Amino acid sequence: MSAWQLANLHVAYRSGPPWRPTQHDVLRGASLSVAAGERIGLIGASGAGKTTLIRAGLGLVPHDRGQVHLLGEDTAGWSARRWRASRHHAQLLFQSPRAMLHPTMPLARLLRESARLHRPEESAGKAVAEVLEAVGLRGRDHARAHELSGGERRRAGIARLLLAKPRLVVADELTAGLDASLKAEIVELLLDRVGPECAVVLVSHDLPLLTWSVDRIAVVDGGQVVESCDPAALASADRHPATRKLARDAGLEDA
Ligand SMILES: Nc1ncnc2c1ncn2[C@@H]1O[C@H](COP(=O)(O)OP(=O)(O)O)[C@@H](O)[C@H]1O
Ligand SMILES: [Mg+2]
Repeated sequence: MSAWQLANLHVAYRSGPPWRPTQHDVLRGASLSVAAGERIGLIGASGAGKTTLIRAGLGLVPHDRGQVHLLGEDTAGWSARRWRASRHHAQLLFQSPRAMLHPTMPLARLLRESARLHRPEESAGKAVAEVLEAVGLRGRDHARAHELSGGERRRAGIARLLLAKPRLVVADELTAGLDASLKAEIVELLLDRVGPECAVVLVSHDLPLLTWSVDRIAVVDGGQVVESCDPAALASADRHPATRKLARDAGLEDA
């Protein structure tokens, strides 16, 4: 089964005064297909359109053309309410760790709200204790955002998405700003805790980090997905020029 299918997506941002609008074409026919349980690394230069692609695919940015299938369903014509309902199964982990957590609300209270939303039939307290344990934050119930380290905030974000028992997780620059060993730890934690049936898309420009953690790398360039290949084949000579540049910049290219 396909977890997520983005076909020929076009997105343009419009700005300027109504009498002289300017249009910035950001996605120009981007396609990406993610199978159930598959782990994909989405890479590309800054401004290539990665964030727009995943946001359009989760109904957070409207697209002008193209199709989105989410967890086996065609999303054409979905209402805002239907999209919200899809978040029980398809979760976005935000780029900014600050956006993941309320500034003053204690962690456990925040998680209990998510638990009531996603698991109304279970005891919220029990579900929260379970996910805090799963991410290594047992006993941190009363911590507020500013009392958590960068790594702990990512763990808290993972705890929150686990409450939804997701089948698709999309993480945008999850590890930006963390040091190298912590990055690996957080990615490993996420991939392990969501379970093998959950598809995961990791958006990152940290190519070395992705190469060991995903099944496939997709490269975004100029608003299109220009490459989709095995991480081991990234440096091979017949890759797209954008892929070769990313591989070279990461020091992966063969001598
Ligand atoms: N809300 C927005 N309004 C206008 N332009 C935007 C908006 N979001 C992104 N852009 C522009 O779209 C392009 C792609 O951005 P983005 O999808 O964030 O790329 P990436 O995540 O690959 O860095 C950039 O040129 C950016 O400036
Ligand atoms: Mg981005």
